[in-house]
Amino acid sequence: MYIAFEGIDGCGKTTLAREVNKIFPKFEIIKEPGGTDLGEKIRSLLLTNKKISVCSKAELFLFLADRAQLISEKIRPYNNIISDRSFISTIAYQSMNAMCSINTLWIMIEYALEIPNNNLFCIVPNIIFFIDLDIETCMFRIKNKSKDKIELRGKEYLETVRYTFSRLSKKDEMLLPHPQSKIGREIAASDFHILDGRLPVNKLLKIIKPIIEAKLKLEIKKSPEKLGFIE
Ligand code: TYD
Repeated sequence: MYIAFEGIDGCGKTTLAREVNKIFPKFEIIKEPGGTDLGEKIRSLLLTNKKISVCSKAELFLFLADRAQLISEKIRPYNNIISDRSFISTIAYQSMNAMCSINTLWIMIEYALEIPNNNLFCIVPNIIFFIDLDIETCMFRIKNKSKDKIELRGKEYLETVRYTFSRLSKKDEMLLPHPQSKIGREIAASDFHILDGRLPVNKLLKIIKPIIEAKLKLEIKKSPEKLGFIE
């Protein structure tokens, strides 16, 4: 099973992903961008290397390349993964500067998410948790941390990102892929949950745990080899 945590920087998704991993230790935790040797290089080009400039289109392709490598190396339909971010971040952060239609963007994302040598399927999280929190609180929480190139774009940019996350979490049709596309069908089957980022971690875990357990039970019915993933 594949679970993703999404939200703007400072919303608490990294902490939550780690805490959820303690409850479900048989899951592997990954981070986007990153998680592979190539991904770590891409991460530094995109986020920390201030000498190399990356134009909007190149930025999009680099996030997609990072994801394609993760699919090729780590994420398989039967792997159990908790991911700190996913392709949802690409829609939230890159769509406003992508210079292409949302449909074109989804086609590119779908291509990056196809399983190598099997273009009939693409891999989408079974559950996506959106942690929603206002920009001021997020910025306050990360005030002592050195900002990456994307965080440095400032409040207005992050407000648009938050708004896009919120539309996606409500499965706003205007932002979703064509329902008959591979990725459209996968997204229709995945669960989106909005979490209030102001809540303390222990309260959030009380909400998250039963959601994961219920989904795992369903998945186990479909594929019994997953038995043992609920502690
Ligand atoms: P993240 O790893 O969450 O930050 P931190 O290391 O501070 O916890 O942040 C990665 C940055 O990359 C974040 O600013 C969001 C951005 N991002 C995109 O713009 N598009 C994407 O597709 C992804 C995965 C991340």
